[in-house]
Amino acid sequence: MKQRELRHIGILTSGGDAPGMNACIRAVVRTATARGFEVLGFKRGYAGLLAGDCVRLGPRSVSNVIQHGGTFLGTSRCEEMKTVEGRKIALDVLEKEKVDALVALGGDGTFRGATALAQEGHIRIIGCPCTIDNDVYGTDYTIGFDTAVNTAVESIDKIRDTAMSLERLYFIEVMGRTRGFIALDVGIAGGADHVLVPEVKADLDKLYRDLHQLIHGQKRSGIVVVAEGGCPGGAVEIGRQVGARLGLEYRVCVLGHVQRGGAPTARDRLLASKLGAAAVHALAEGKDGFMVGQVNGRVTYTPLRDTWEKVKDLDAEAMKLVGELAK
Ligand code: F6P
Repeated sequence: MKQRELRHIGILTSGGDAPGMNACIRAVVRTATARGFEVLGFKRGYAGLLAGDCVRLGPRSVSNVIQHGGTFLGTSRCEEMKTVEGRKIALDVLEKEKVDALVALGGDGTFRGATALAQEGHIRIIGCPCTIDNDVYGTDYTIGFDTAVNTAVESIDKIRDTAMSLERLYFIEVMGRTRGFIALDVGIAGGADHVLVPEVKADLDKLYRDLHQLIHGQKRSGIVVVAEGGCPGGAVEIGRQVGARLGLEYRVCVLGHVQRGGAPTARDRLLASKLGAAAVHALAEGKDGFMVGQVNGRVTYTPLRDTWEKVKDLDAEAMKLVGELAK
């Protein structure tokens, strides 16, 4: 079927917010309007799309947003988009608003929805990877990951001061229900003694033995980074099962949603700006059904389905490094 002429571009942010989403919206809006396209922003992600809640966006609508976390369009996790009936409503709204193509900013859940929408209707979709979790196939880094890692490392640096002063062991939980990208990078950059990730089954006896050895090898404080999904019960449970047996005072700290907020780092703003512009270029070139990403510094196009069906591997060498540097 012949592609519709591209005139109106819709944009939405969906799923968990990620620092850099605003910078990405800005890049999409400014690149699109400079080329004569009209941009329509849907509020609250797919929920707003289903409700037909939208606003026209021009270059001035995105002034002074590049430095802010969150998303000024709002976002949601929309259960209705998981149903054929819900997606039919979304397609009808897109038709009614004369949207020829949609740019969807989010993570794997967003792209699952986008894949189904593109399959069931005639809407052209390009995705931009925005999630702090970095768990999207087809890009080295997702927008928001760098900021989340920096926020967590900053907190760990502070915790280390008190850990060292009071000779304590800290079990610090970072985000990552199903993947350990944040935990691994935070663990290395924060100088952790151990990292637990969902990809590797937690062996608490081994963790106990390793920490015991470190403590009896003169270390008088320690940091263990635990991904949310790194062990059933998270850092609280590990503290209870391991910390309590070690003979060193221990504390648990769950960093939680602070990791998802705050001003995006320069690296996230750069990635967001590049990928937002690349999404519009891709649409202008007639591309359809891809996520724009960056691999080895170059812009790449990954079929939307692959972004959530294929699995991005955690760096096994980096996992080994944590143990080697903890000695
Ligand atoms: O944004 C991704 C993420 O931060 C995951 O790491 C985490 O498991 C989840 O969202 C929690 O988000 P919420 O509490 O908003 O459901």
